[in-house]
Amino acid sequence: MSAPPFIPVCEPLLAGRESQYVNQCLDTGWISSAGQFLERFDGVACSNGTTALHLACVALGLGPGDEVIAPAFSIISTANAIQQSGARPVLVDVEPDTLCLDPRRVAAAITPRTKAIMPVHMYGHPADMDPLLELARGHGLRVIEDAAQVHGASYQGRVLGGLGDLGCFSFFANKLITTGEGGMVVTDDADLAGRLRLLRNLAHGPKRFEHHELGYNYRLTNIQAALGLAQLERLEAIKTAKAAIGDRYNHNLADLDELTLYWGRYRPGCEPVMWMYGLLLPPDRDRDQFMADLKALGVDSRAFFLPLNQQPVYDGTRPGLPDLRGSFPVSEDAGRRGLYLPSGLALTEDQIDRASQAVRQLLGRA
Ligand SMILES: Cc1ncc(COP(=O)(O)O)c(C=O)c1O
Repeated sequence: MSAPPFIPVCEPLLAGRESQYVNQCLDTGWISSAGQFLERFDGVACSNGTTALHLACVALGLGPGDEVIAPAFSIISTANAIQQSGARPVLVDVEPDTLCLDPRRVAAAITPRTKAIMPVHMYGHPADMDPLLELARGHGLRVIEDAAQVHGASYQGRVLGGLGDLGCFSFFANKLITTGEGGMVVTDDADLAGRLRLLRNLAHGPKRFEHHELGYNYRLTNIQAALGLAQLERLEAIKTAKAAIGDRYNHNLADLDELTLYWGRYRPGCEPVMWMYGLLLPPDRDRDQFMADLKALGVDSRAFFLPLNQQPVYDGTRPGLPDLRGSFPVSEDAGRRGLYLPSGLALTEDQIDRASQAVRQLLGRA
């Protein structure tokens, strides 16, 4: 008997007007960094979520001597964007229920050098923005929201990415909206938007090809924007389909008290999105072995992020890079026990059920 087909962790589903819009670019020759799709894909579009974060830091004028408070549980892009602006990342642990920046710990980490806070909305959950914004107001800090994973989610009726001074998105292939690779910074501050546009395009001076400051080529193409716009048209349908995936897993795994399930645990008044179906394994399970066993059963998965305090690049031994080691128990626990199951839009109910069954089998609860 042949093995059942492998269930991938995430495959994009390009089911709208993607090919129509992309073909319009090809037919008209508008394939580069200008064109109608870029004009309509609103915000400061850029090459990926990491460059969006970097642009945000630079546009705010962050640099040497400044500190930016960020969650220890995050992708390396968080620390790198701050570091690459010249500022120093200051890590803070996350809340156990949402894996987002813990406002009480942020308060304790503020120093006279703190210039900004960078909350990351993790695995579809909104960070607790009201206390963070209040802290920022009280201390004169800027807020850069990392909304890479949460297109269309909201906090107390306000769409994520639009609460801080700047909001950053990623459009990588595993995101709710994808342009293949891509990103965006949003802001309602016209001056900041101008800074972002300037820095994104090599910081040309008033006279083209004469440069007065350090800029970057972080441009997005019209072809990518065409993809993004086609996806944006379907955002509500995408959110609904993703939520249905999360709901089905929750239903299949609800009785497994030994697991910590993240979908559906959210604070009142917030609308999360189901980005990836994340869970924590029981403390006595070897997560990497569990993932290998899942793979043998035909189910792909991904480990949670390795916390930033455990990243070798920031262990204090690399010249010019800070030592970010420290004790962040919630982040470390999630990084050690967490994984996410197949969560792509192309998943069938049968695939979700097979993936759930594989988890049950490995836990001896089939
Ligand atoms: C929270 C978060 N921030 C930033 C990024 C970086 O985005 P990109 O891969 O587009 O550079 C990601 C990517 O997954 C992410 O999850």
